[in-house]
Amino acid sequence: MRALAGAAKGARMCGIVGYTGKRQALPFLLDGLRTLEYRGYDSAGVELEADDGELAEVKCRGRVAALAELCSGLPGTQTTGIAHTRWATHGEPSDANAHPHRDCSGRFAVVHNGIIENYQELKAELEGTGHSFKSETDTEIIAHLVEEAFRGPAKGSLETAVGLAAARMQGSWAIACVSSEEPGAIVCARKGSPLVLASTDEGAYAASDVTALSNITSRVINLEEGQLARLEPSGKITVYNADLSVVAEPDGFTIDWDASAATIGGYPDFMAKEIAEQPAAIERLLEGRLGPDGIVLDGLSLPLDEVAAIDRIYIVACGTSWHVGLLARTYIERWANIPCVVECASEFNYEEQLVSDHTLCVIITQSGETADTLASARKMHARGAKVIAITNVLGSTAARESDGVIYVQAGPEIAVASTKAYTAQLVAAALLALFLAKANGSMPLRVVRDHYREMLRIPELIRIVLSRAWQDEVAARAFTDAQSSLFLGRGVSATTAREGALKLKEISYLHAEAYPAGEMKHGPIALVEPGYPVVVVVPESPVRDKTISNLREVDARGACVIALATNGDVRVAQLADYLLLVPPAPEWMSPIVDVVHLQMLARYVALARGCDVDKPRNLAKSVTVE
Ligand code: G6P
Repeated sequence: MRALAGAAKGARMCGIVGYTGKRQALPFLLDGLRTLEYRGYDSAGVELEADDGELAEVKCRGRVAALAELCSGLPGTQTTGIAHTRWATHGEPSDANAHPHRDCSGRFAVVHNGIIENYQELKAELEGTGHSFKSETDTEIIAHLVEEAFRGPAKGSLETAVGLAAARMQGSWAIACVSSEEPGAIVCARKGSPLVLASTDEGAYAASDVTALSNITSRVINLEEGQLARLEPSGKITVYNADLSVVAEPDGFTIDWDASAATIGGYPDFMAKEIAEQPAAIERLLEGRLGPDGIVLDGLSLPLDEVAAIDRIYIVACGTSWHVGLLARTYIERWANIPCVVECASEFNYEEQLVSDHTLCVIITQSGETADTLASARKMHARGAKVIAITNVLGSTAARESDGVIYVQAGPEIAVASTKAYTAQLVAAALLALFLAKANGSMPLRVVRDHYREMLRIPELIRIVLSRAWQDEVAARAFTDAQSSLFLGRGVSATTAREGALKLKEISYLHAEAYPAGEMKHGPIALVEPGYPVVVVVPESPVRDKTISNLREVDARGACVIALATNGDVRVAQLADYLLLVPPAPEWMSPIVDVVHLQMLARYVALARGCDVDKPRNLAKSVTVE
């Protein structure tokens, strides 16, 4: 088992980029910030450094486009700089609270992703020694701590000063710091928040995630917990441990994404692109997964006897990935006969778990960086459980800290609302369930093969749903005057209803409540009045008739029924105001296919309401705060 870093702490969804080298820094910094926009932010800023060390700062509340506008007057000759997108935690979104932040002398500038938990004590201490502050942020204290250390015990060494500052701080951080005292150098530090580095002939780069570096290089260094790094214009990167001893072989990995995968192509928005990419993503994930002994999951690397002995599984995730977890439980319990508990990570972390030598924890996290999910994994590791991760991001913290990993290979997902990562994670969960079922003897190889062959049809079934986008566009009219809506389903379709409601809430800001269809009469039915939109997920399944009864109940009360049903389902067609048709699919597979309609429906409703479907308000792609 790999050793794990300490307990998870909160961090911001902010984005950091840095560059020092031969080229002008500003174009890369602005491009880098644009690629990190998807992480969620409310302000942006840049600090540029000239060859003589003179610093120039531009920052503002609002979008990177506004920052770029403000930067248009700069000479642009600087070849060193750091930049930042901020998602407010301490202090409102404002020009003053935007990063970078400087010390009193204006010689040190810092950008930070994370939360300094003891900042109030440190601030009081620094104020007591004469420092004055310009913002309400916790970050600003870092610049002052660096200033203090630089002129004192660090004796003029920037990396020592940053290291000493970090030693005073509690919480989480990824930091990049420049100083007019050491022109051309960028010093970075990491604890709890990710930071990747890259070196080319053109210089040295830093970024919060690989999307900002994917058109620069395919080889990146991952700064590990507690490490620092010094970047120089020659491209040289020196990585240090917390005690400033040099790390001989920093942790590196290769980005397998083609840079164009993170661009919008000819699509109107990233969400449209990512919805359309689902068949290809699933084909990629399924390719070559059937071996002579069953499902091949190379990244799992757990001894087979240990896998066969697993007798309890905790599945932990957040948001959309938690919905994947709900279906993962169904697959694992049905096929592998292993009892599962599914919990959202923020709850899981404050509950007791029963852990034995045969307990497995499965974390599901698209980004691999969600703080609560990582905390759950660390907690389970500390209790002695094996942890495996289902994730989309190569080299993410979840992947690196787990005993085994299943990469879903969906490619970069830029729209905040998850679509292709959701369906790919569902497929990965089904593969895992088949793998476990074969390993513990619950399912014969022949049946594993049959299921796998069924799965190979998923891309084609999704293509059929995609070709029916017009049905979602028409059904979106049902939400024109709505204040609220209800999503119903039974069995596996109850999760599809949940995911559909979440998508609608996230991107259209219209309230949507998901309920198990049979439970609806114990409360939510009181909401129903004439014209009230109710989405009923009722594909062909053993519980279809029961769901139709619930459909009748809302129909009888005047609801506007949007029914997701299987081709040729005349009974449902007669009751529905709008129909979203899906091709016939095995019941267990239907959530992977059906949800695509609900993704498209949410998108059309959001567009009709004038919302930015890629960057919904208040949300972040990767929630790195607890
Ligand atoms: C955020 C995103 C969601 C995502 C959730 C979990 O809330 O907006 O789309 O489902 O985080 O993210 P993860 O990367 O752990 O799957």
